[in-house]
Amino acid sequence: MKGILLAGGAGSRLRPSTNAVSKQLIPIYDKPMIYYPLSVLMLAGVREIALISSPRDLPAYKNLFGDGAQLGLKFTYIEQPRPQGIAQALPLAEDFLAGGPCAFILGDNIFYGREFAKLLPDAASAAKGARVFAYHVKNPQNYGTVRLDRNFRPLKLQEKPKKPFSPWAITGLYFYDNNAVKYAKQIKPSARGELEITDINRLYLKSGALQVQPLGRGIAWLDTGTHEGLIEASTFIHMLEKRQGLKIACLEAIAYKKGWISKKTLTAAARSMAGSEYGAYLAAVAKEIGGKYDIF
Ligand code: DAU
Repeated sequence: MKGILLAGGAGSRLRPSTNAVSKQLIPIYDKPMIYYPLSVLMLAGVREIALISSPRDLPAYKNLFGDGAQLGLKFTYIEQPRPQGIAQALPLAEDFLAGGPCAFILGDNIFYGREFAKLLPDAASAAKGARVFAYHVKNPQNYGTVRLDRNFRPLKLQEKPKKPFSPWAITGLYFYDNNAVKYAKQIKPSARGELEITDINRLYLKSGALQVQPLGRGIAWLDTGTHEGLIEASTFIHMLEKRQGLKIACLEAIAYKKGWISKKTLTAAARSMAGSEYGAYLAAVAKEIGGKYDIF
């Protein structure tokens, strides 16, 4: 399965921090925000990834990830000329997807939890339809929201409902079969002028092919939409990493544990980041025998 990592948008709620820098490059504690959703694609086993961003920000991502080989990945870069909605990413990636399914993640979504990582390979191997994830939140009006029946089957979807009808938000991770691009071409801009991802999910729901996986209490899905959300997410990651001595979303470590890169490549990455805590961690992972730095 191929992956789409969406990292464009205007970043308006985070101005002036985003006046010259892409939102998804802002650090969450010790690494750029984009590392976290990229680690999700990697944990799902996705290695061919299209990174979509604005003409201004795409060069920065190319600097950061290059062709992806140092992570055992293959990157393709696609421009979104203007931020006209999340669903626009699908037709933009049409050639890249070449009629196949995709794992699509928003570059500002941070997930954490062992149980979450366990759900990913299964979601990525589903042959038909769409699989999305629902998370119980206090402020559903800020998200795409789903009403579920008592068996957690989806009944209704709405993007940012003024009067929320359910506490279940749809997260920014979507597994789609090969109908997604076709659906994206059918939808029209919403009242706020955007091609909404919720409208794609609604077409899957209509055809009886939308599976919603609720994420339970033991999983964290963090908000990075505001300055307060950034501090809280950074604090969360800092607290866990400091306590456990294990890094979250350490891309090179994931690639190494998956057998996608050699010890030599990992050691080279460690050397290139020598002097940082991240680099020291990579060096320790490379030296470790017996899997103390296990990704799960
Ligand atoms: O995070 C989950 C939520 O993401 C979902 O519950 C909503 O259904 C979905 O619409 C979206 O809501 P947001 O309000 O968070 O969307 P936002 O406009 O902030 O865009 C999300 C990310 O996608 C953000 O990192 C910027 C990027 N983006 C957005 C648009 C509209 C693009 O790269 N291009 C775009 O055209």
